[in-house]
Amino acid sequence: MNILAIANQKGGVGKTTTSCTLAYIAANDGKRVLLIDADAQCNSTDTSRVNSDGVSTLYDLLINKDSTDCIQHTNFGYDIIAGDPLLRDADKLLSGFADVFVLKEQLENERFASYDLIIIDTPPALGTLLMASLTAASHVLVPMTADRYAAQGINRLARSVADTQKYTNPNLTCCGVLLTRKARPTKLSQKIETGLPELAEQLGTTVLEVAIRETVRVREAQAAREPLMEWDNTCTAAQDYQMLYVELKSKGVL
Ligand SMILES: Nc1ncnc2c1ncn2[C@@H]1O[C@H](COP(=O)(O)OP(=O)(O)O)[C@@H](O)[C@H]1O
Ligand SMILES: [Mg+2]
Repeated sequence: MNILAIANQKGGVGKTTTSCTLAYIAANDGKRVLLIDADAQCNSTDTSRVNSDGVSTLYDLLINKDSTDCIQHTNFGYDIIAGDPLLRDADKLLSGFADVFVLKEQLENERFASYDLIIIDTPPALGTLLMASLTAASHVLVPMTADRYAAQGINRLARSVADTQKYTNPNLTCCGVLLTRKARPTKLSQKIETGLPELAEQLGTTVLEVAIRETVRVREAQAAREPLMEWDNTCTAAQDYQMLYVELKSKGVL
């Protein structure tokens, strides 16, 4: 089983869009897929049209160590463990020495053994939830946008990945930097894109061949709470995500 964490402590870089769209495409390619929403903002949960109230969530799994009923089926082919606004306090509650192992340990439960792929949508912070996600993962994918601040904080994310590899998960591989929301080239975006290989190198990886183009369809799908692939599977970003799926599959990540 592969466990793919989608990580970047910056918000707005496409973590949730990438997590939900890859989960959808993999499920529709016949894989048994579980999406885990590790962000207290619950965007993946909302997009997947499941509840985070009145149901068992990732909070129950991690804090109460209760895995019964935390899996919900979506109408889109994949299953999900919902996010929870209470995860905002996860870093305080998971401050013990061994707490970075809590997700890894829970996912070893036989309840999760039938999945081919688990995708973790991680929070926009370098806290315990991210460290726990990286500790549980086999691969980490880093989405980035080509904006002025793209490079900001990548050194700290690279340190979190390297620390995880050194102390808690020697099997973690960074499978690539994914350029998202790629717009018509400007001088600035071209300059930033030229610098991406160097950023990827800090993470011990390369920039993926596929980039995801910016299109209003992504925002429309989100507003309609529809998976991108159901809203418009012919739009540029949908085509790019299909190609990304093929590229990651050829690398053995999915
Ligand atoms: N390829 C894209 N084209 C246009 N808008 C996008 C694209 N990818 C993401 N977005 C939009 O950018 C915002 C941030 O994306 P999201 O996936 O939520 O990022 P994150 O989870 O990293 O915060 C959302 O409003 C989303 O609809
Ligand atoms: Mg998000």
